[in-house]
This record gives sequence, C-alpha cells and structure tokens, in this order.
Amino acid sequence: MKKNIQQQRIWLVGASHGIGLELVKIWLEQGHKVIASARQAEQSDDLAQLQQRYGAQLQCLNVDVSDAQACAVHAQQAWSVFDGLDLWFYNVGAYQPMTCEEWEWSAFMQMNQSNYLGVVALMLPLHKLFKAQGHGRWVWNASLASYFGLPYGGGYSAPKAALVNLAQALQPELAAQQIDLQIINHGFVRTRLTEKNQFAMPGLLEPEQAAAQIAQALQRSTAFEIRFPFRLRIILSLFKYMPYSWSLALTAKMLRNQS
Ligand SMILES: NC(=O)c1ccc[n+]([C@@H]2O[C@H](COP(=O)([O-])OP(=O)(O)OC[C@H]3O[C@@H](n4cnc5c(N)ncnc54)[C@H](OP(=O)(O)O)[C@@H]3O)[C@@H](O)[C@H]2O)c1
Repeated sequence: MKKNIQQQRIWLVGASHGIGLELVKIWLEQGHKVIASARQAEQSDDLAQLQQRYGAQLQCLNVDVSDAQACAVHAQQAWSVFDGLDLWFYNVGAYQPMTCEEWEWSAFMQMNQSNYLGVVALMLPLHKLFKAQGHGRWVWNASLASYFGLPYGGGYSAPKAALVNLAQALQPELAAQQIDLQIINHGFVRTRLTEKNQFAMPGLLEPEQAAAQIAQALQRSTAFEIRFPFRLRIILSLFKYMPYSWSLALTAKMLRNQS
C-alpha cells in the first residue's frame, strides 16, 4: 500500500482558486502529476500559467460537482489521464452566511451539493476504479465548522458535518480495501469564501500557509483527521462537549444587532 504522496498521480477537485490553487503549486513543485478540476479549470489563467511552466505534469479538467451524471464521466476521464490515481483530494466548498430572513433554497442547495453531495457524486464512480487498482488515498477537505453549528453559518456547516459523518462511516470498509480515507478540518483562511465574513476571524491563515500545512500533514501522516489551528480547534471542541445550555448561551452572544 502506498502511504506517502511522493511522485503521486493526484486529482484535485476545487483547484482553481484559494487553497486548492496553492496546493496545485506545491504538488507540481514536488514533482507530482496533477489533474486540476473546477467548473472552469480549462479556462483558468492561473492554471494555464502553471501549465506553461510544468507542461504535461499538469492537466486541467472542467468538472461541476453539482451535475452527478457528468461526474461519472469526469471520474473516468480523470482516471484515464495518468492511467490511475493515487490521491483524490476533494476541496470544493461553497459558503453563504444567512440570517433567517435571508434563507434561500438555492443557497442551501448549492452548499449541500458543493460541501457534501459532490463527494458522493464522485466517490460512486471512483470507488470501483480504486478498488480494482488495489490502493489509493481519498482526502476530503471539510472544516472545523463541522464541529458545532454557529449562527448564520448552518447552511455551510451542516453539509460539512454530514461529510465528516459519512467519512467516519466509510473509513473501516475502505481501509479493508486498501483505500485510505482522511478528512481535513481546518480553520479560517483568507479566500473568496471568507471575504463574506463580517467578523474578526481568529487564527486567519493565508491560502499559501493553509496549503503548506495540508501538504506537510499529508506527507507526515495517514491519521483520519488532520486539523488546525490548535486554538480554534480546542475552542470548537469545547462547544461540542459542553452542555447545550452553556454552548447555546455562548452562541446566542454571537448574534448581530443585539440590544
Ligand atoms: N476559506 C476558509 O476559511 C475555509 C475554512 C475551512 C474549510 N474550507 C474549505 O476549504 C475548501 C477550499 O475553500 P477556499 O476557501 O479555498 O474556497 P475557494 O477559493 O472558493 O475555492 C473553492 C474551489 O472549488 C471550486 N468549485 C466551487 N464550486 C464548484 C463546483 N460546483 N464544481 C466544481 N468545483 C467547484 C472553485 O472553482 P470554480 O468556482 O471556478 O468552480 C474553487 O476552485 C472548501 O472545501 C472550503 O469549504 C475553507
């Protein structure tokens, strides 16, 4: 079983911006073969520049994870590019903070598709390919937000929590088939997603820093959960384990416009 990611064939879904784009740069520099996917990956200037530098080591593939039928075709295409995959990294995410008055079905749907169902749409066709290959590694980028629902962020954190729960359920079965499954729960990173936040974000990282931590952690460990930063993780863990009468009293203080 391949345990590290040296000289690997990697499919990164959610690779055109933010953390994903920085991971592409790191992995190309380390010599890996990368398939970079997003809805407009083949039209991305950033990815085109990387292709000029790294040539055939980087391939771009347009994928919209909200189209489950197309995902089955794309999974096969991605598999064929380098004749198999060692690492499938799911990094797609959508975030729309909303008050009760701002709720919109389309926003909930988009977050469910990006943060949870997109993984399912891809893992269904990928599973039989990895199983037949006899080894592989799946890494899903969730969020520390999966630990506890916070005001206005439930549309984002609920499907992230579902993703973590799904991973917990699948890990033993996949491990028995030599497919390592890992989740990443990290904190705030300065990207398009967090531009929408109107509050101070403790432990905010730059996308380059977050990508470097993820790449290092994946090289070091096949632990089920990769998590950082330490302080935010501890705070959100406490929310999870303290009595609801305490945790919900604390989250009530996060409401805006309180008199
Ligand atoms: N930023 C944070 O503070 C933070 C914290 C914890 C966890 N995370 C997680 O980290 C991951 C990366 O987030 P980020 O902050 O780097 O966000 P980002 O800059 O918005 O990147 C998201 C990536 O997903 C792609 N994407 C979005 N919708 C897609 C779809 N339907 N099909 C295919 N690709 C799609 C985007 O490309 P296109 O739009 O071009 O398709 C982009 O490449 C997400 O899973 C996010 O939830 C972020």
